[in-house]
Amino acid sequence: MALQRRQFLLLLGAGVGGVALWGARQPRQASGSALPFQPVRSTLPLPSDGLNPAEQRQAYRVVRVSDALELPPGYDQSLVASWGEPVGNSRFGFNNDYLALLPQGADRALLTVNFEYISALPWRQGFAAVVGRPLPYEAVVAGLQTSSSSWDVWSQPLQGPLAQQVDQLAREALIDQGVGVIALQRDANGGWQRDPGREDRRIHGLSGLDDPAQQLRSTGPATAVFRLSKRRGYDDGLGDRIIGTFANCAGGTTPWGTVLSAEENFQSQVPEAVHADGSAFPPSARPFQCSDRGIRGLGNPFGLAGNKYGWMVEVNPADPSDPGTKHTALGRFRHEAVAVAAKAGEPLVVYSGCDRRGGHLYRFVSDGSISDPNDPANSRLLAKGTLYGAVFNPDGSGSWRALRPETAVDPLPAPALLPHSNRARGGAERLNSEAQRQAYRERYRTLGDLYVGDGEAQLGALLIDAHLAANAAGITPTARPEDTVMDPQSGDLLVTFTSGLPGSDGTPDMAIFRGPQGQTPWNEGWIMRLTPGSADDFRWSMVATGGKPQDGGLGFANPDNLAVDPGGDLWMVTDIGTSTQNSDKNGGSFGNNSCWVIPTSGPQAGEALCFATGPVECELTGLALTPKGENLFLAVQHPGERHGTRTDRAEEARAFNLELSNGEPLEQLRWVPLGSNWPSGQDGAVPRPGVVVIHRRDRRPLLAPLS
Ligand code: FEO
Ligand code: CA
Ligand code: CA
Ligand code: CA
Repeated sequence: MALQRRQFLLLLGAGVGGVALWGARQPRQASGSALPFQPVRSTLPLPSDGLNPAEQRQAYRVVRVSDALELPPGYDQSLVASWGEPVGNSRFGFNNDYLALLPQGADRALLTVNFEYISALPWRQGFAAVVGRPLPYEAVVAGLQTSSSSWDVWSQPLQGPLAQQVDQLAREALIDQGVGVIALQRDANGGWQRDPGREDRRIHGLSGLDDPAQQLRSTGPATAVFRLSKRRGYDDGLGDRIIGTFANCAGGTTPWGTVLSAEENFQSQVPEAVHADGSAFPPSARPFQCSDRGIRGLGNPFGLAGNKYGWMVEVNPADPSDPGTKHTALGRFRHEAVAVAAKAGEPLVVYSGCDRRGGHLYRFVSDGSISDPNDPANSRLLAKGTLYGAVFNPDGSGSWRALRPETAVDPLPAPALLPHSNRARGGAERLNSEAQRQAYRERYRTLGDLYVGDGEAQLGALLIDAHLAANAAGITPTARPEDTVMDPQSGDLLVTFTSGLPGSDGTPDMAIFRGPQGQTPWNEGWIMRLTPGSADDFRWSMVATGGKPQDGGLGFANPDNLAVDPGGDLWMVTDIGTSTQNSDKNGGSFGNNSCWVIPTSGPQAGEALCFATGPVECELTGLALTPKGENLFLAVQHPGERHGTRTDRAEEARAFNLELSNGEPLEQLRWVPLGSNWPSGQDGAVPRPGVVVIHRRDRRPLLAPLS
C-alpha cells in the first residue's frame, strides 16, 4: 500500500515537470531515521500503525473512541486557556480557532486567538457555569416559537422582557466571537502559562457599539462605499468605522508583528447580498433567529451593515490601543486563512481563500513595494493594490486573473451564482443554462458594467461582492479552500482544500479536484502546492490527498489548518464535519478530528502520520509552533458540539465496514461517546473550547531525533 502511495506521489511530481514533490531538502539530521513518535491510532487501519493484517484485525475490531486529546507516548499537554476565563475587561471567547504566537523575548509571548462561532448546545449548556450568569436561551426560544423562531428585531422592535432577553442573548453570542490577545510566560520547566499583562484584551463582535473609540477602522476601496452620501441600500451611519468582528476562523501573521484574522461565515449573522453600488441589504434581510438548533442573525438587533463583514482584519497584539483594521483591498468573501509573502524590493503578496463549496483562491498584490519586511509601516501596503482570483488548468498550469472593472465577464458554466442580472435589485442570481450564460455575457461585457460608482467607489463595490464578481470573471470554483501557508524553504504556497463535494453555493471544478484515482466528487480533501511562475502564472500540484488508503488517500479526511515547523515538516489538522464524525451512515470512518505530521524529508516523506486525535465532536484548530518547534499550541474547538455535555458516560455502539491494509474487509464495532466532558473529563462536566500546549517530555523540539 505504501508503495502504491509513493508511486502515486511520484506521478504527481512528474506531472509538474519533474520538480521534486517537496522541493530540495536538507536530509533530516538523524541520518534519515523515522520520526520520533509512534503515530496515534485513529479508527482506521493505516500502514503507519506498524501492525500486520492479523494484528490490525485484532486492534481495530472493537474501538472505543476517546473523549480526550490523545498524543503519542512521550508527549504531554497542558491547558493554557478556555472559554469564559477573564481576558482584559472581557472573557476568553467560544470556539477558539486560529492561534498566532508572537514571542516577546525568550520566555514571554503573546497568543492571539480567533473565536469563530457559537455551537448552540454546548454554549447554552455551559454558559451559566462558565461565565457566571444565566443566559435566557430557553426564554428566547419560547418567546419566538410562534414566529418561526425568528424575528426582525431591527425593523420591528420587540416589547417587554423578550426585548431585553434577545438583546442580552445576541450580545453574549457576539462577545464570545472575535479576537483575543493573552500574554504567556514560559516557566523554568519550559511550560507556558497565562501571565495577564497590559496586552490582554478582546476585540469582539460588538466592539465599538457602546464606545465609539473601539470601533474598527477600515482601509481600501470599499471605504469609498462606506462613506457614500447617497446609496441604494442600508446606511449604518458610521461612515468608514465598523462595529466589531465575528466569525474569525483562520488567520496569519505578518513579518512586522501584526496578526491577520479572517472573517469567514459572516453570512450567518448579517446579510451577504449587496447592491450594485456595494451598499448593504437592510438588516431585515437576515432576521434574528433562535431555536433549539442554533442562533443566527446576531447582527440584526444592532443594525449591523452586512457589507462591513467578510474582511481580513489586521490587529497589532502588542498595542492594546489598536482597535483593529479591516483591509478592504483584499476583498470581501468567506475569508479563511491568509499567507503573506513579503520580500524587500517587491510588492507585498497576500493569499487567501473563500471557504465555501465553489469558493475561490485569491491573491492580493500591493501597488507599493517593501523596503524592509519587518517595518510596521508595511501595513499601509494593504490599503492599495490588486485582487486576483486563481484560474486552474487541468495540466498543472494556472494564472491569476485580476478583479477590476476592465476585466471581461466570462461567467462560470451553469449552474452558477452571479451578480443579479437585474442590477437595480442587487444580490445574486442562479444561471441554470448555457443560453442564460450567453445572454448574461452579451448584456454585461466587463465587471465594470456590473458595479456602479465613481472611481474608487466602483472598485470598492466590486471588492465587496468579490465572490460573485469572481464567478462572473470565470475564476475557478474550488473545493473549500481553508488554510494557506508559505513554505519558507521554497517560497511556494501550500493550500488545503477541505472537501470537493458540490453544494448549493457551487461546485468545485471536477477537472482539478479529483480523488487520487480520479474519483469525483472527492470529499476527503487535498493539500496543494502552488509554485509562483513569472508574472501572473503559476504551477500547481496536489501533494497530499485525504481519503482511505484503499481509495488512494493518506488516511486523513478534510484537511484544514496548516503549519510548517522549523525542520520544514508540515503539520495539519482536520475538519470533519460534526455530523459526519463517527457517523455510521455518513462517511464517519475517520473517527474524531485529528492532527497530522507530513514529513517532507527522510524515509517517511509524503506520508501522513497521526500526531493527535481530539476529544468527541470537536475540531482541532490553531496549530502554532514556537520558533524552535519545542511547543505546539492547539485549539480544541466545539467539543460536544452535537450532543453537548456527556452524562453518565453515555455511549453508543456503531458498526463500520473498513479494510485492513492488505485489502481484507474488517467489520468494526465502534463505541462512540455521546457528547463531551473535555477538558476536565469529569462525568457531567460541560465541555469547553480551549487551547492546549504540547511538549515532549525531554523538552526537545517535537520532531527532534530521539537521543
Ligand atoms: Fe472555519 Fe472554514 O473553517
Ligand atoms: Ca478552518
Ligand atoms: Ca473548517
Ligand atoms: Ca468547523
